[in-house]
Order: sequence, then C-alpha cells, then structure tokens
Amino acid sequence: MSVERTLTIIKPDAVQASHVGDIVKMFEAGGFKIIAARLVRLTKRKAEGFYAVHRARPFFESLTEFMSSGPALAMVLEGENAIAHLREVMGSTDPAQAAAGTIRKLYAQNIERNAVHGSDGPETAAFEISYFFPGIELT
Ligand code: CMP
Repeated sequence: MSVERTLTIIKPDAVQASHVGDIVKMFEAGGFKIIAARLVRLTKRKAEGFYAVHRARPFFESLTEFMSSGPALAMVLEGENAIAHLREVMGSTDPAQAAAGTIRKLYAQNIERNAVHGSDGPETAAFEISYFFPGIELT
C-alpha cells in the first residue's frame, strides 16, 4: 500500500446534470483527500491533447467534442492506492457493466458520457495531473 495521487475529471454531462456535489461526496466518503480542483472549459484542442492515446479510436472525435462541450471539474485526489481505488469507486467505463453503488452506475448516461474520468496507471496519472495542474508535486 502506498499513498498516491490521481487525476479525476467530473465530466460535462455530470456537471450539466448537477451531480458535482454527489460525486465529490462519494470521493470524500471513499477516503480521498482533495489536493487541487479547477473548473475548466476545455477547448477541443486541449481535450484532444488529454486523450491523445485514444486518437486512433473511432470514438475520438465524438469524445473530444463532448469533453469540450461544457464546464468540467478537474481534481487531484490523494489516498492509499488512489489510482486503483478511484477506478473501483468509479466503476466500469460502460455504466451498463458498472457495479451497483459506483459513480458510473449512479450517474453515467452511456459509455461515452460516463460522468467521470480517472487515471488508469501511475504514468498516466503523472501526465494527467501535470496537464491540468502544472507544477504540482506528484506525491
Ligand atoms: P475515460 O475513462 O475518460 O477514458 C476514455 C474515454 O473514452 C472513456 O472514459 C469514455 O468517455 C470514452 N469511451 C471509451 N470507450 C468508448 C466507446 N466504445 N465509445 C464511446 N466512448 C468511449
């Protein structure tokens, strides 16, 4: 077990539907400490840079349109095994597959408009944290 930091984004669908408070409450109930937070309105280009690893996927254009469609809340969360733990609290990418009680089961609309993002590993977390919070310490 080690203390880690991870990047989450409460996506435009969840901000639009006024689920920010409920989702932050689930982060806090899950034991995460909020280290930083920024309400952002991504440009298409900034969304494309963030999801660059998915650039060849068929959903890339639609995903980056969606992510730049309205305000989103980017946050750095800290806790024991924060990267894996956040992914458990979020649930599967596709809400139809997500376990009961997870954020995506409760608040996601579909596999694309899925309420939250969470880093999928230590290297991604380092890239994603610095993408939104340049200069912040990673641990
Ligand atoms: P996220 O965890 O932010 O990482 C990549 C995102 O791409 C994912 O959540 C979804 O929003 C989106 N995504 C993943 N798979 C699909 C898919 N098959 N169709 C549409 N969007 C997807």
